[in-house]
Amino acid sequence: MTFERPLTEHPILIQEVGMRDGLQSAGSFIETDDKVSLIDQLSSLGLKKIEVTSFVSPKAVPLLADAEVVLSKIWRNPDVVYTALIPNVRGLERALQTELDEVNVVMSVSEAHNLANLRMRCSESLDQFRIITRDSGSLRVNGTLATAFGCPFTGPVDSSEVLDWGRRYLDLGIDSLTIADTIGAATPGQVYSVATAFIQAFPGIELTLHLHNTRGLGIANALAGIAAGITRFDASLGGIGGCPYAPGATGNVCTEDLVHALIFDGYSCEVLLPELIEVVNALDLLLPGSLTGLVRTSGPRDRVHSMSE
Ligand code: COA
Ligand code: ZN
Repeated sequence: MTFERPLTEHPILIQEVGMRDGLQSAGSFIETDDKVSLIDQLSSLGLKKIEVTSFVSPKAVPLLADAEVVLSKIWRNPDVVYTALIPNVRGLERALQTELDEVNVVMSVSEAHNLANLRMRCSESLDQFRIITRDSGSLRVNGTLATAFGCPFTGPVDSSEVLDWGRRYLDLGIDSLTIADTIGAATPGQVYSVATAFIQAFPGIELTLHLHNTRGLGIANALAGIAAGITRFDASLGGIGGCPYAPGATGNVCTEDLVHALIFDGYSCEVLLPELIEVVNALDLLLPGSLTGLVRTSGPRDRVHSMSE
């Protein structure tokens, strides 16, 4: 029996966020040279974008306080877009002193989470973004709509509000949008309908889905996004991370598990899986017991065991 489902002919692009979303809430500080080594290894594996760090307050996120040094030391593959998260104009000022390609501005569509995470009302974040898009020069600006499927403090989020915020971002001149399920609240049906609404409302705009796997629906949600027409996904090496200001948050959909699912389900995905797993093994040595991905230990689905094992 054949399972008929829409297989996009477009390549599925994977954007690694583990070095930011993952390491920002890791159990311990990863030494700068170890971060640089991981990023350098990731740079030649077919990932389209790497979020290497964030330019936020070092008091808010001490584990990424070495952002400038990391950026000064990494090898830069011209086929990879190097990006970093910023919450405010101070973040842009810092980013402009480095060799970044893009800044990723972030705001939660939920007022309560934006206050908890960034100590700003949504309108204040938007005021910051207005200055950022004006002063960003040749830097691309991606805009992330966090808590797009649910807020840890106020619950469900109305998808029409998320669309409205997307429109406000684009009106400011933001180049591309990321729809983020910060607390892993989305279901595949919701992802399909929100993704479809965004594609219809903003044709031609580069859209990314950023899906946390808090309730085990990360890959199912990604496949629902693909069915709706999304071709870009954030993912986190080993499944590490989560927002330190969202109670109960866990990591993004795991990069190697997502790549494995895509490759073996017949999608075009250029990420080199065996080499990726070698990098995950290096990360495991730095953060023992923190990785949640499955394929690293199970092996890919075509692995066969000796009967004497
Ligand atoms: N980078 C470095 N330092 C920054 C900064 C930035 N982007 N923005 C502000 N600061 C510094 C200020 O210079 C000031 O320093 P001082 O105490 O030495 O004078 C201090 O932080 C407080 O500045 P203020 O503007 O009052 O910020 P705040 O205390 O209201 O915090 C944020 C606002 C946005 C800076 C802070 O909440 C933050 O960085 N949050 C990020 C959280 C995060 O990364 N979450 C996960 C990703 S979504
Ligand atoms: Zn995230």
